[in-house]
Amino acid sequence: MNEDDRAQLKAAITTAWDRGAAEYDRIPRHGILHDDERTAWRRLVAAILGDATHSEMPKLEVLDVGTGTGTLALVAAELGHDVIAIDLSERMVLAARRKSIETGIAVDWRIGDAEDPPVPEASVDAVISRHLVWTLPEPVVAARAWRERLRPGGLLAVIDGSYPRQAAPLRLLAAAAARIEGSEDEHEYPPEVDARLPLLYQLGPEALIAALREAGFERVRARGLAEIDRIERAHLGLLQRTADGWRRYLVVGRAPGS
Ligand SMILES: C[S@@+](CC[C@H](N)C(=O)[O-])C[C@H]1O[C@@H](n2cnc3c(N)ncnc32)[C@H](O)[C@@H]1O
Repeated sequence: MNEDDRAQLKAAITTAWDRGAAEYDRIPRHGILHDDERTAWRRLVAAILGDATHSEMPKLEVLDVGTGTGTLALVAAELGHDVIAIDLSERMVLAARRKSIETGIAVDWRIGDAEDPPVPEASVDAVISRHLVWTLPEPVVAARAWRERLRPGGLLAVIDGSYPRQAAPLRLLAAAAARIEGSEDEHEYPPEVDARLPLLYQLGPEALIAALREAGFERVRARGLAEIDRIERAHLGLLQRTADGWRRYLVVGRAPGS
């Protein structure tokens, strides 16, 4: 991809998220809307990074790429870690910053590209991301950049979702249910942008795992996030719960060298 193509694509992606920033946290399974969801996310992030509010657990330097309104970054910071969080969209970062001020949880918010994060090489212990990789035009380029920013042996943890290929009537029902029940979360890219995103609408984590291995990550493995799925689905309206097939997964890997 040449520089002009890349810049155009990033501009279209940034515009879409700037436009969606004000509503983002109201969308179920994106914003954290209920206490049981908050507890489940906190438990998951603590399982990934450790809970540094306990004195015997190390405080990590963590980079959250594609932080959006900062959900994952804020949970990691609440668990006692030092977090830098980056996103292309100024409005998403503004919303995140606002939450940081309201909650008193400190995060270093920055505008930046996940495919070239504005932090020095070998400077962080963990790179985390949620719901980003599907929208990366060059996931292997991004993953290489994450590996370079990690200290030797550093942890990568990526959360995304599978889109099972459902029969057309079920797909239509899920979309209509989301509209009726107010939980619509379709992204709004033009079709020519969608066509440039290799991990969009994946059936599972396999393509992501391959991209991470190609980028030099070691010990790459995936698992489903059944507890989060169950808790979040319980808060969806009946129609959407019946029709929707989205399932979360976590993929972890290690930078070489420990
Ligand atoms: C679906 S949202 C996820 C936000 C957040 N991580 C979450 O879990 O709620 C995708 C986010 O990725 C951001 N994004 C897309 N491409 C990016 C890139 N190349 N670099 C940084 N951020 C990017 C968008 O601006 C948007 O905020």
